[in-house]
Amino acid sequence: MQLKYKSYWRKSGLKGRWGNIFLERLSNHNPKNVLEIGVFCGVTARNICDLLYKINGKNFSYIGVDLFGSDQSEKKDEIKPKFLKDQKFSNPLKNIYYNYILKENLNSIDSVSKLLKKYSGNIKLIAGDTNTVLKELDLQNFDFIFLDGGHSYQTVINDLKILYESMKGKKKVILCDDYGKESYIPEVEKAINDFTKENNLKLDLIENRFAEIIT
Ligand SMILES: C[S@@+](CC[C@H](N)C(=O)[O-])C[C@H]1O[C@@H](n2cnc3c(N)ncnc32)[C@H](O)[C@@H]1O
Repeated sequence: MQLKYKSYWRKSGLKGRWGNIFLERLSNHNPKNVLEIGVFCGVTARNICDLLYKINGKNFSYIGVDLFGSDQSEKKDEIKPKFLKDQKFSNPLKNIYYNYILKENLNSIDSVSKLLKKYSGNIKLIAGDTNTVLKELDLQNFDFIFLDGGHSYQTVINDLKILYESMKGKKKVILCDDYGKESYIPEVEKAINDFTKENNLKLDLIENRFAEIIT
């Protein structure tokens, strides 16, 4: 299958060749139900849905969890909300478009829902901290999880523990970002190493960036 990660004129955690590498990995596992932890502006979410639709038609699900930090409280703000001051773009046209014309916080449920509108019957977006919301989610049916949310040691370990409880022995996939030297976060690497060692799990390093765990 020909796969091309599209940027949808937004910010993404998977820039340049990384988007295509991610999609190739995802398509190798032929998934139907995907969870993304850390949605950011929804670009990877949209690309995941585009791929799931190609593979399964309308028979797929995507769930995305993110803090979606400032959506609620800033909505009614009449003056320029804080998130717009903090929402920086290297492209000046994007700055004008999103911060001055649309006044849109790209890391918000409203904005990501708009980007995923085509798939509204198949998706669910959840606002909250994974340290609490993951425990309330039914994780039994996911084939593929992209772990790219909080990057502290404690959050990565907590997320992995909760995910693994429901996925253990099912040969499902947890793909973790920011493990290898191409996008290195030491706390993430340590948490993943400690977790896989404790549970005797094999880990594959993908393109010196992602850690892939089969449960
Ligand atoms: C690196 S970005 C995700 C990038 C996205 N996967 C992509 O490919 O474009 C990390 C995201 O995780 C979210 N996040 C950070 N800590 C979190 C937590 N404890 N629970 C849920 N989301 C969290 C942030 O709000 C941010 O949007």
